[in-house]
Amino acid sequence: GKGNHRHFMEKEIFEQPAVLGDTLRSFADPATHRITLPELPFDFQAVSRVAAVACGTASYACLVGKYWLESLAGLPVDWDIASEFRYRASPLVPGQVGLFVSQSGETADTLAAMRHLRGEGCPALAVVNVPESTLAREADATLRTLAGPEIGVASTKAFTTQLATLACLAVGAARARGRLDPEREAALTKALDELPARILQVLEKDQEIRAIAAELMAARDVLYVGRGTSYAIALEGALKLKEISYIHAEAYAAGELKHGPIALIDEHVPVIVVAPRDHLFEKTASNLQEVVARGGKVVLLSDAAGVAELGDYAWKTVTLPEVDPFVAPILYAVPVQLLAYHTAVLKGTDVDQPRNLAKSVTVE
Ligand code: M6R
Repeated sequence: GKGNHRHFMEKEIFEQPAVLGDTLRSFADPATHRITLPELPFDFQAVSRVAAVACGTASYACLVGKYWLESLAGLPVDWDIASEFRYRASPLVPGQVGLFVSQSGETADTLAAMRHLRGEGCPALAVVNVPESTLAREADATLRTLAGPEIGVASTKAFTTQLATLACLAVGAARARGRLDPEREAALTKALDELPARILQVLEKDQEIRAIAAELMAARDVLYVGRGTSYAIALEGALKLKEISYIHAEAYAAGELKHGPIALIDEHVPVIVVAPRDHLFEKTASNLQEVVARGGKVVLLSDAAGVAELGDYAWKTVTLPEVDPFVAPILYAVPVQLLAYHTAVLKGTDVDQPRNLAKSVTVE
């Protein structure tokens, strides 16, 4: 049941500290907390490139995974939408592996994409929540997300546990490829260990975020922007909002704004800026100022230092805990979930069962 919660989606958002802890612990050595991957059907040292393929929210987890695998493990990753990948004649290279991410493990396009790649002789690694699913059974190896059953159509805890799993995969791959010095490894391990507690702090902002949603619900269009892994969180935030509140929402890489989308900006279009203080913060900050200069209303998601620097430009701010930029996408997923959730509840939509959507898309 829903326990004390009004909707499954709310329950599942609030379960995230616990299920992230479970998922992360499943990869950690209990004594040293060192992240260890199970035996895989390929050697990361011999992998030349990864095709990371999924649909919807799971594809945004893959996009974050791409940034992590590339930057930490030095592994080239092709990010793909399953419905495109399966019909495209994408040449596979020797040493290529496939990475398929799915909550249900039954998504028709993701399954077909995996079968296509395996048919070409590439090993497939699946990140799946439902262990008895077709994807889990047919993959060469499976990493399980321990989100537990997800009932709400809008993916929340499945997404963040996918991210946690891909973070562990990136750490394991980086170590296997000799690209992780012990100091960096210790910092990443600590950041992951502390993540459930940090997410709990974000959940304490629930009512504050609800107050922003009360203003957002009047908007006809909402833009989400970010750079790096925050671009993927912007995409996820926009999907979440449109899927359950039916407000038109789009995400852009912040650097793309001036190539067209900035023409949309006026005082009626709120812009959600996902801006943890990482190496791209100053770049995002200047995009934020461009938006404000055109009358845009900015909702800034950042930490205390980021809000201190840019808060004066923003219409609304949410101050999030300071974390290692590596885990920031997992943390910043939560406020965009809450923003969408409260906006939808305030608009009175059917949050757990939005119109026209199914929990698992088993037909193409
Ligand atoms: O079961 P899957 O993870 O393969 O599902 C993929 C998408 O259909 C799913 O993530 C969808 O985008 C969510 N409803 C978004 O909240």
